[in-house]
Amino acid sequence: MSTTTGAATLGAQLQDSPAITQAIDAITSEVRAKSAQITDIRGPVEGLGDDYESFMKRAGETRGRGLLYPYIGSGLGNGALVELMDGSVKWDMISGIGVHFFGHSDTDLIGAQVRSAIGDTTNHGNLQAGWEGYEFSETLLELAGRKSGLKHCFLSPTGALANENALKICYQKHAPASRVIAFKDCFMGRTVTMAQIGDSAGARVGIPLSTQVDYMPFFDEVAAERDGVTKFIDTSLVKLNEYIARYPLQHACFIFELVQGEGGFNTARRDYFKALMECCRANSIAVWDDEIQTFGRTEQMFVYEALDLGEYVDIFCVGKMTQVCATLFTERYNPKAGLLSGTFTGTASAFAAGTRVLERLRDGDFYGDTGINARHHKAFREQVKALAAKHPDWFPKVEDVPGSPGAKDIVGGIGGMMRMTPFGGDKAKITKACKTCFDEGVVLFYCGHGPFHLRMLPPLGVMKFEDWPRVFECVERGLAKVAG
Ligand SMILES: Cc1ncc(COP(=O)(O)O)c(C=O)c1O
Repeated sequence: MSTTTGAATLGAQLQDSPAITQAIDAITSEVRAKSAQITDIRGPVEGLGDDYESFMKRAGETRGRGLLYPYIGSGLGNGALVELMDGSVKWDMISGIGVHFFGHSDTDLIGAQVRSAIGDTTNHGNLQAGWEGYEFSETLLELAGRKSGLKHCFLSPTGALANENALKICYQKHAPASRVIAFKDCFMGRTVTMAQIGDSAGARVGIPLSTQVDYMPFFDEVAAERDGVTKFIDTSLVKLNEYIARYPLQHACFIFELVQGEGGFNTARRDYFKALMECCRANSIAVWDDEIQTFGRTEQMFVYEALDLGEYVDIFCVGKMTQVCATLFTERYNPKAGLLSGTFTGTASAFAAGTRVLERLRDGDFYGDTGINARHHKAFREQVKALAAKHPDWFPKVEDVPGSPGAKDIVGGIGGMMRMTPFGGDKAKITKACKTCFDEGVVLFYCGHGPFHLRMLPPLGVMKFEDWPRVFECVERGLAKVAG
């Protein structure tokens, strides 16, 4: 094969072409101009309603089941505001369940994706890929490696697949151990195996149970306050040691969700996790940290970093706001060739956007006690407290559900994981409130398995502090409809 000399490949010259840069600038300024016209919530635009009904019906028919919310996006928004296909505009306080941390129509992300679209392929694979996926991995590993021994990164398109890869690594390392330990109320995704590990009976109806899972209690702040933290930790350790003694050398891993997402935004203390992780270490059980929902939005980029637990983490998964999902592991857990692969690692546009998300989280002022995430959390709590002071009957005491992580307050979570508990956490009222709030102009969702909570994962990357009262005007109207 002959070689040519030259400082840049033709591909790089295309990327750097002034004509391309100009075209991208033209596109992003047009997006910015249209986006700027979205300034507040509004109802459907006259003349679009009938069409919207028909789109909703067609969307439901494709899925075989109607949509949970009448939500089909128009493709435009402005920060925390999103326009739907009927022309209505809503506050997006759930951001695709934690995906759109930088909100809607962010021109920095759009610019990066448009540039990625001129690459020669749509998808990148394990066999053939450009540099973009490795750039994402390098950026993530550099951040993850600051406070942990995580050294390598394997990409996948969804969180559940990142978790599947993590599980395979744990099984291979500790073969023939075949059991896993997980927390009560955990969520891991919806593949056949992850649905079995996830602690939700409704999510595995009809699925044969082939994975052996031992469940540990999650930290229960009500019980710890009542009986003392040390007693709670000691009792948990007794339970963990019981499992280990019952099934000697049969546990491949313990899956830690350091702040439970679907389980109800339950948080826990460092000493609780540390005690359990040390026990895993002593018994050759991999410590697997699933930060798919928490990543980026708590008071540090990684929860293990906030809790100073990085030294214990063997395997780590991330997803959602990173746009690309990934399984990270230490040198010791690097699997044998052949264990992990797949046709796609992801799309060029997801890598480009994901890398920009990581860079912006790294370079922004999101973390620490006075960072953006913590300050928004404080603003959220103030709104909930004010609402409860105005309508005390909407916020009765949250009943303690025995065996579940206690919710001793009507407001909880951490950073950009925000929960509030009206109506005592009653399931029917909370799910109804999701729909009435949607009708009143704010998209949110629920979490928890009892008590149930209203959940927000807002786009804190673009949310303004002065938006909170405007969001809560919608929440107040929505809750009023439930309170009747
Ligand atoms: C903690 C956790 N793990 C795994 C998943 C699964 O991710 P995905 O829905 O991208 O498959 C989720 C999704 O909500 C999650 O919250």
